[in-house]
Parts: sequence; structure tokens; C-alpha cells
Amino acid sequence: RQATDSPLYALMAAASNYYRQALKSHSSRGPAINYLKGRGLTGIIARDFGLGLAPPGWDNLLKHLGGDALQQKAMIDAGLLIENPETGKRYDRFRDRIMFPIRDSRGRVIAFGGRVLGDDKPKYLNSPETPIFHKGQELYGLFEARQHNRHLDEILVVEGYMDVIALAQQNLRNAVATLGTATSTEHLKRLFRITPSILFCFDGDQAGRKAAWRALEAALPCLLDGRRTRFLFLPEGEDPDSLVRSEGPDAFRARMQQQAQPLADYFFQKLGEEAAPNSLEGKAHLAALAAPLIDQIPGANLRRLMLQRLSELTGLNDEALQAASATLVTAP
Ligand code: UTP
Ligand code: MN
Ligand code: MN
Ligand code: MN
Ligand code: MN
Repeated sequence: RQATDSPLYALMAAASNYYRQALKSHSSRGPAINYLKGRGLTGIIARDFGLGLAPPGWDNLLKHLGGDALQQKAMIDAGLLIENPETGKRYDRFRDRIMFPIRDSRGRVIAFGGRVLGDDKPKYLNSPETPIFHKGQELYGLFEARQHNRHLDEILVVEGYMDVIALAQQNLRNAVATLGTATSTEHLKRLFRITPSILFCFDGDQAGRKAAWRALEAALPCLLDGRRTRFLFLPEGEDPDSLVRSEGPDAFRARMQQQAQPLADYFFQKLGEEAAPNSLEGKAHLAALAAPLIDQIPGANLRRLMLQRLSELTGLNDEALQAASATLVTAP
């Protein structure tokens, strides 16, 4: 699925070295260092995650790496340079940003995220899809989490780079983030090969709650008996980064232990809000929504238990619910 021996790997490694070195010694590093300190990060975490700096200017990386035309062409393929299609002029994609290298499972840098220091837009700029980077498949922080601990009892799935890093800073070193895309079944298959338990912890806002439901839908086909998924909903306006910094790691751990909802609980709560089973129509609606989703669960025990619960809520027996999942009727 990926070009495993692509020359782009060496190029990305060289770029990553350049950005890291710039954060240590470039004349413009001051504001970047202050920014990272202001967000509570220490040099140790910056090193663990290989954070760097793309200095201000149009051609810092180009000058550093882009010797000949062939090399520049490779840098374009790697998403490091942009070529203006009209003038043919080439310039650095990442300028005046904090750089987050994205590593694959073997630790090779395959892409970058870059954050502005202030409030400019876009806040984060990411590498485009390249021969070595397919963003729908990668999970930011997974390599670093496994470096720290080969045996992960649980993995937290969060939204952002800074959530992963802020948690690691507080010694919660088991968080990963999707790269600005929805959590997919592919992502979760990968994670379940590594851990039996996944905790979703998205931002406390409308987008985060939407992401949680989409993650639930993506998780259903992965739910073998013996696997566990939970959902932790954060107070409005908070994300894992802001919360773990304001309340500290112990309170955050307590929250994970006490407030995380098992998938089945969240499932029936959410669907119950959409289709309250307090009328025959409500019960019918709930069965129509829930049965086809439950049907996707491969774990026979969990599937039966959830059908049983649906049966209690609606009064429909197993046979009727099986039929409901088989025939999804659309209204005229
Ligand atoms: P958020 O907007 O929640 O960012 O986007 P954040 O991580 O909390 O950002 P900080 O705390 O202000 O630094 C979550 C994730 O969505 C993707 C990034 O992966 C980001 O970490 N994103 C967001 C982008 O790709 N581009 C953007 O402009 C914004
Ligand atoms: Mn892709
Ligand atoms: Mn958000
Ligand atoms: Mn956020
Ligand atoms: Mn944030």
C-alpha cells in the first residue's frame, strides 16, 4: 500500500532534522520557544515528539535541501515545496510555523503538521497526500506511544496534535490523534491489533460530539467480544489539552475512570434522545435506528446483549428485531 523504499523517506528525515535544528538555533526561534513554553511543554517532550520550527521566509528549506532540479522535484512530491503553476516559482510549503513530524509505525517521518504561532488561518497546515503519506490511515502519536510502552492496556483517541502532546507532557503517554479526518474502521482495526481497549476523548463542542458518534459507527465492525470502547465527553469548550493542563493529570485520570461511558451506554442514550421509546412510534423508530447498527457487531455476545436491551426498550422480540435490521425501508 505504500512505497516502502521511496527516496522520499530520506528527504522527510532531512527536512525534519532541519526543522528540529531551527527550533534549537535559528535566529527566529525565540517566539516559537516562548509559544511552546506558554503551552506548558518542556524540552523533553519537544524532543520526544521531534518538534521543530519552519522559520519565517519563503525559501529556508529550499535553500537548505534543494540543491538541483531533481532534488526540488522530489521535494515537491514530498509536499515540502509548492510550485506556482503559472510562474514555475518554487517555495516552502511550511513557513513561520511550529512543526509536528508525523511518523509511521516504524518511526519514519512521512508528513508534517505545522501550526501558526498566533491566530492566523489556517491554524494547522498539513502535508498533502504523497506516495508515502495517506492521511486517512495514519495516527499521530502512535509511534511515540509505543516507544514509551510496548504494552498499551488502553489507547486514547483525541482530535489534535496538541492534545496528544499535552497529555504526554502530563505522563499520559497513550494518546493518538487522527489527522483532521474522521476516525475510520481502518484506524480502529490498527489500534485493536495493539490494545484491547480504546477510549475516545474528543473536544467538548458540537464538532467533537459529532466526531464521537462517527467513531462509534466506525467501531461497531471491530467489536469482538473481549474488546472495549468507551467515550469520555468533556465540559463545553474544553479539549484534552486545555483540561489536563487546568485540572492536572490525577483529576483527568479520575475523569477517565469515573465518567467514561461504555459504547453500549452511549449508543442507547444517544439513540434514545433521537427516538424516545415512550410511544409506539418512538419504539418503532428506535428499533429501526438501532437494529441495523447492532447487526454490524461481530462479537456474538455483545450483539445478543444489545439486542436484548433493545428488546426491553421496545417490546419487540428477537425475531422482529432481526427482521428490522434486514429490511431498511425508506419512506415514499
Ligand atoms: P482543533 O481546532 O481542535 O485544534 O483541531 P487544537 O488541536 O485544539 O489546536 P490548538 O489547541 O489551538 O493548537 C483539531 C485537529 O484538527 C486538525 C489538526 O489535526 C488539529 O490538531 N486541524 C485543525 C487542521 O488540520 N487544520 C486546522 O486548521 C485546524
Ligand atoms: Mn489516502
Ligand atoms: Mn474543536
Ligand atoms: Mn481542540
Ligand atoms: Mn486545543
